[in-house]
Amino acid sequence: MVTEHTPGKVDMEKIVSLCRRRGFIFPSSEIYGGLSSCWDYGPLGVELKRNIKEAWWQAVVRERDDMIGLDASILMHPQVWAASGHLEGFSDPLADCKSCHQRWRADDLKGDNCPNCGGELTEPRQFNLMFKTFMGPVEDDASTVYLRPETAQGIFVNFQNVLNTTRKRLPFGIAQTGKAFRNEITTGNFIFRSREFEQMEIEYFVKPGTDQKWFDYWLEERFNWYLKLGMKKENLKLRQHTHKELAHYAKDCYDIDFLFPMGWAELEGVANRTDFDLKQHANSSGKNLEYFDDETKEHYIPYVIEPSAGVDRSALAFLCDAYAEERDKDEIRVLLHLHPALAPIKVAVLPLSRKENLASVAKEIYSELRQCWMMQYDDAQSIGRRYRRQDEIGTPLCVTIDFQSLEDEQATIRERDSMNQIRVPIKELKTTLQAKLAGEDLFVLPPGGQIWKEGKA
Ligand code: GAP
Repeated sequence: MVTEHTPGKVDMEKIVSLCRRRGFIFPSSEIYGGLSSCWDYGPLGVELKRNIKEAWWQAVVRERDDMIGLDASILMHPQVWAASGHLEGFSDPLADCKSCHQRWRADDLKGDNCPNCGGELTEPRQFNLMFKTFMGPVEDDASTVYLRPETAQGIFVNFQNVLNTTRKRLPFGIAQTGKAFRNEITTGNFIFRSREFEQMEIEYFVKPGTDQKWFDYWLEERFNWYLKLGMKKENLKLRQHTHKELAHYAKDCYDIDFLFPMGWAELEGVANRTDFDLKQHANSSGKNLEYFDDETKEHYIPYVIEPSAGVDRSALAFLCDAYAEERDKDEIRVLLHLHPALAPIKVAVLPLSRKENLASVAKEIYSELRQCWMMQYDDAQSIGRRYRRQDEIGTPLCVTIDFQSLEDEQATIRERDSMNQIRVPIKELKTTLQAKLAGEDLFVLPPGGQIWKEGKA
């Protein structure tokens, strides 16, 4: 939900245009005129998205003893959605205009009439947001299945499987990334709200009574994750759900809101889902989903804390947060201040000329370094134009090979944000780039290195 209309500093049109122009994001099926609210991630977008998921997985699974991963299927037993409450309650109230037949979310309407033509509106009706499809060759009610509207349920129904196979003790969590589908009524704001999107969800199982402590813990942990990846603090805030807004399963919920171009809006939700889901699935499936606490010798259904983030929304937020325009002489330099962990291209190799002797050295460096990072090799147009191209897609470092490199076996490293340059021996390139991508100051020099230029490159 967009809460306040205080527009962020970046114009959404500029982000959309950059994404289109540079191959981050395209409208789905564009040659057929596009498909409403579906998007395709191009060569740079797919890298950005993978990097976001990778950074999340690293932080919430690989670096923790109390977390494990899962990859459940999108299609699930239809009873899952009856038990979870989605069949009954996952709906928006809709009103139709009797004149122009446009459909509106009743809670978005300001007055009694159609915002489009002023026509009379029908009484609001509930519209379920789940996409239906059919399993097998017969299209009847018995074969109806749903595309999951959240990845969370795949975790709940596997709770006992994970418990039995990993012998985890409470508190512990299960993490999952994957596609989710919702037949949203109001879409728009680019990839902010689409009908097919990706989620990064954690279900963290705790002993009842300790849930508030873990709720506070995850709220802070998740907020800090965005900050660690370079997001500006002034673009983030926490917002508690009002009682009316709370989902049917939640005891408490906070949104981590980001200042998107259209205003503050949800980036991630952190909810206390209590024991609602496990209890529902235990009742519905007839399976025992209790946990046996060996310390207290009690059997109970754990409570669940759920930090649930959107990959696409994160991508949009990181892009908006990183976007900058700087005056550089008579030009405007457009750049993305993306954190190196998120930047689609980490290092670009730029030979000053296409001459064979220079190109062969540059290509050798490129083929060695690409074993470590996503790289680009660019030898087209002036070096200034090439730096600008890399700035615009957020490449943190460029390596330039010039004619002097052939004699002194050194190369220049140029930093995106400061435009400062250092010159280092080619044999020191890999370790130097590694250190700079990990956050070391550019002017900390390797053996034989020197400061080359400050700014303006
Ligand atoms: N399991 C809880 C759950 O799904 P949610 O607040 O409905 O909660 C979690 O969704 C996150 O998924 C949101 O914070 C948002 O980042 C992302 N999300 C939800 N609906 C979306 C949509 N239609 N398009 C893009 N992202 C969406």
